[in-house]
Amino acid sequence: MDALEAIFTRQSIGDLKPDPVPRPVIEKLLAAAVQAPNHYKVRPWRFILLSGAGRERMGEVLAESFAEKFPNAPASALEKERAKPLRAPVIIAVGVDKPAEPKVDEVENICAAAAAVQNLLLAAHALGLAAKWRTGEDAHNPRLKEFLGLSPDQHLIALVYLGYPAAEIGAVNRPGFEDRTRWIE
Ligand SMILES: Cc1cc2nc3c(=O)[nH]c(=O)nc-3n(C[C@H](O)[C@H](O)[C@H](O)COP(=O)(O)O)c2cc1C
Repeated sequence: MDALEAIFTRQSIGDLKPDPVPRPVIEKLLAAAVQAPNHYKVRPWRFILLSGAGRERMGEVLAESFAEKFPNAPASALEKERAKPLRAPVIIAVGVDKPAEPKVDEVENICAAAAAVQNLLLAAHALGLAAKWRTGEDAHNPRLKEFLGLSPDQHLIALVYLGYPAAEIGAVNRPGFEDRTRWIE
């Protein structure tokens, strides 16, 4: 699959087989991720790989923080939180370094890390994997950040749920660029 085909056919897929993803394949995705552009070459991305029991530990963290936030939450709601990370055999959490020097802009670091995530998604698609970039409340959960080894002020920009697709993948049909584009000539 060439680069343009990967770009045009990639899509978010949440329905994944439980089959494990071999480590060399994951390493290839990470190697693709770090080809992203990054200003001042600060390599601001941090990847935290969760698989096997690591996902169960993450589920415990999510359930505990949910219980803390909603003390009267029913057991079923806690169980739902606990099961969230089990939706994929692998989760790749992506954190962003805070700038260490005044010349480095935090927004640029976030942009670079996001570019790395897109590289990773495209590489996964090209290798026959499926993935979904997730964030939501979890991305702002201080307990989850702590579990992942990120500091409270570090951005957690992605939880990439990754695996092999459980069903056949349909065609992509996205709006075009025209209504988001202005030509100044
Ligand atoms: C920063 C970011 C955060 C996202 N967070 C979520 C999320 O929490 N849950 C979800 O279902 N999809 C999430 N998505 C995926 C988008 O919903 C998805 O890209 C969009 O529906 C378009 O579908 P496509 O990726 O197949 O083109 C996120 C995407 C981005 C870029």
